[in-house]
Amino acid sequence: MVSFKELGLVNTREMFAKAIKGGYAIPAFNFNNMEQLQAIVKACAETKSPVILQVSKGARNYANQTLLRYMAQGAVEYAKELGWEHPQICLHLDHGDSFELCKSCVDFGFSSVMIDASSLPYEENIALTKKVVEYAHKYDVTVEAELGVLAGVEDEVSSAVSHYTKPEEVVDFATRTGCDSLAISIGTSHGAYKFTPEQCTRDPKTGKLVPPPLAFDVLDAIMEKLPGFPIVLHGSSSVPQEYVDMINQYGGKLPDAVGIPEEQLRKAAKSAVCKINIDSDSRLAFTAAVRKVFAEKPGEFDPRKYCGPARDLMEELYKHKIINVLGSDGKAE
Ligand code: G3H
Ligand code: 13P
Ligand code: ZN
Repeated sequence: MVSFKELGLVNTREMFAKAIKGGYAIPAFNFNNMEQLQAIVKACAETKSPVILQVSKGARNYANQTLLRYMAQGAVEYAKELGWEHPQICLHLDHGDSFELCKSCVDFGFSSVMIDASSLPYEENIALTKKVVEYAHKYDVTVEAELGVLAGVEDEVSSAVSHYTKPEEVVDFATRTGCDSLAISIGTSHGAYKFTPEQCTRDPKTGKLVPPPLAFDVLDAIMEKLPGFPIVLHGSSSVPQEYVDMINQYGGKLPDAVGIPEEQLRKAAKSAVCKINIDSDSRLAFTAAVRKVFAEKPGEFDPRKYCGPARDLMEELYKHKIINVLGSDGKAE
């Protein structure tokens, strides 16, 4: 058993309280490899933004959970080396799907876990979430739960259609589970294809897809029922057109990829939404940069020469999100 406190990490409690009061959101960036983590830490150290480093079950399988945890510990030290005196870094399990997985992360130094039992019937979601909360809180680890179903593929959790969170359930759910934050479904979804072309309209000038708006009425109703309670948005990548275009220009094939417009995320960040999850945008930036190098320099075979530009582009993306979308810059001096 190792406590996250020994690793220099923080849980989400204070982060979220400040974010709600301050009208901004904490970035929750997934990481699977060193370049992503370097880019996240550099972006956050430079902007002095608190950050949630997210590890999915898939990331644990890909990169090894021990290595990822030590990387997060290393991230705290790296941040200090970069001149960030008091790094506010949380290590979070993304989409935990069992008590055992959540427990193992708590025992292993994570400062926050998500139990995603949103695909289970309501009472089972409550029972499993409550069990995780009871265990995690013994160690001051914060717990994110989910109510409502996001369309698209989550790690080990998938659904073809989304079911918005029912505002009438949130008080009962939060009270009975004791969760620290609640992921809700208001129209976001995972991946780079968040809406089908049929769900969108087309901009007559550019021919690009314009997605439907998020259900802010549902968010408003939830905030009214649970004033000041931390709300989380998953599936919040914007799928920047410039990366999609770069990928397609250099041999990729991502037709009609579409995400959540940034102005909608900006609006959400000002509300009780205090954690915004972004993974796909980083994958797109990485892929776009690597494809460009491969296309322009077919003789290149030193991974540093294509992972380096990928890292730079991700860093630029993370800074942009922090400063121009979430407003979390300068909140962890
Ligand atoms: O919610 C999904 C995240 O983007 C993690 O994706 O399960 O492929 O690592 P992953
Ligand atoms: P995106 O696929 O929109 O980046 O969402 C990531 C996410 O919700 C991770 O839990
Ligand atoms: Zn998610």
